[in-house]
Amino acid sequence: MKNVTVVGLGKIGLPLAAIFANCGHFHVYGADINKLVVDQVNQGIAHVSNEPGLDELVAKAHQAKTLEATVNTADAVSKSEVVVVIVPVLTRENGQIYYQYIDSAVEEIAKGIKKGTLVTFETTLPAGDTRNRFGKTIEKISGLTMGEDFYLSYSPERVYSNRIIKDLSSYPKVVSGYNKTSLELATDFYKKGLNCEILQVSSLEAAEFTKVAECVYRDVNIALANELAVYANKLDINIMEVIKAANSEPYSNIHLPGVGVGGHCIPVYPYFFINNGMQEGLTTLSRKINDNMAQYAVELTEETIGQLKDKKILILGLSFRGNVKEPTKSSTLLLIEELGEKDAKVFVDDPLFDANEISKYGVIPFSNQQADQIDAIILQAYHDEYQKLDFSDFKNCSLVLDGRNVLNRRDVEKFGMKYLGIGMK
Ligand SMILES: NC(=O)c1ccc[n+]([C@@H]2O[C@H](COP(=O)([O-])OP(=O)(O)OC[C@H]3O[C@@H](n4cnc5c(N)ncnc54)[C@H](O)[C@@H]3O)[C@@H](O)[C@H]2O)c1
Repeated sequence: MKNVTVVGLGKIGLPLAAIFANCGHFHVYGADINKLVVDQVNQGIAHVSNEPGLDELVAKAHQAKTLEATVNTADAVSKSEVVVVIVPVLTRENGQIYYQYIDSAVEEIAKGIKKGTLVTFETTLPAGDTRNRFGKTIEKISGLTMGEDFYLSYSPERVYSNRIIKDLSSYPKVVSGYNKTSLELATDFYKKGLNCEILQVSSLEAAEFTKVAECVYRDVNIALANELAVYANKLDINIMEVIKAANSEPYSNIHLPGVGVGGHCIPVYPYFFINNGMQEGLTTLSRKINDNMAQYAVELTEETIGQLKDKKILILGLSFRGNVKEPTKSSTLLLIEELGEKDAKVFVDDPLFDANEISKYGVIPFSNQQADQIDAIILQAYHDEYQKLDFSDFKNCSLVLDGRNVLNRRDVEKFGMKYLGIGMK
């Protein structure tokens, strides 16, 4: 059995480590700087929740002794033939890249690496970083030569939260290598580890840019849908009807409009492109269009119910999307800002967060007893719980703005409230 180290046991790293540890080919060390995470994994417990299949995989690997966690990355790497890096690169507000975590992980890898090891990066990266930043750091610290003494690969992680285990085995895995041997070793590793279709690309940079291009495509497409929705609203046309009809033509794949784009992928990774000399293009404009949707929603609310000063507005969903506990870059944060500028009183409801977690955002955590105070509701993240939402409790509410175009308008209108969607009057 080969030894594999997965560096970073987060939302993606733990599922990866658990799958590799159950595939029958590898003994896996999971390396993480968070001791709580390491301790839990060493008890056979998954600290990542809402990932179908993960608890079972971690427990099974723990029992079979094929998954061990450690805070000592260099030591784990020194015993491994393959190292998988899945420590995030973060961005600041303006999209500037923040490498601190991954840089220190790579330094530890470089201290432990032995001759013949394959290091494969899965973290989303700007094109060029695997070779020019991390490969060179490993060379400098270890004294080994890239492509001769150690091998380098990049393979983007493209999975969707809540479906990670399924996506890892069903999406084709895009794989690249620094040289022929790197590509062969990486292909063999992922075939054994994930048992999925492998899609080889010709360079590390092509694989890095594949993931960024996917995120750019989705952001730009959603911006187009949003622009069309704003126009449809002016014409009193239902955009959802238009998109459905337009997409019946095989070359049309217009995405869905909404109150904004959140999460740590789509609104973030376009900056890996924009900040590398592409400031003037479509991607920058799309980012702006998508981020302006919160302002648009607040303006629609104001046009409908009048001045928002002291009005009590309830936002449904703190998470960036339904059924995921993840507030990163959620459109709710932009809505809170816009409503704050109008001096509205902002209430937020989210069944996945407790009152303390919600009040950190400077808003009032909503409880059902407050329902009759609410003047307007903006639905931002459509959690399953909202399918059963009873609007009859909102006795003084005059507007429901459906920011995801998912509610049944009759459930709202039957209580005398106005229903508005994004591009739907
Ligand atoms: N979460 C998603 O939905 C998603 C989807 C597709 C791709 N990705 C990619 O996966 C990457 C990882 O995302 P995630 O959601 O797993 O992140 P995460 O924040 O859940 O986990 C990161 C883990 O890395 C650990 N860590 C930080 N610095 C470290 C170091 N120096 N050494 C060892 N461990 C260290 C942290 O303690 C944490 O456990 C992202 O950068 C992104 O590129 C994420």
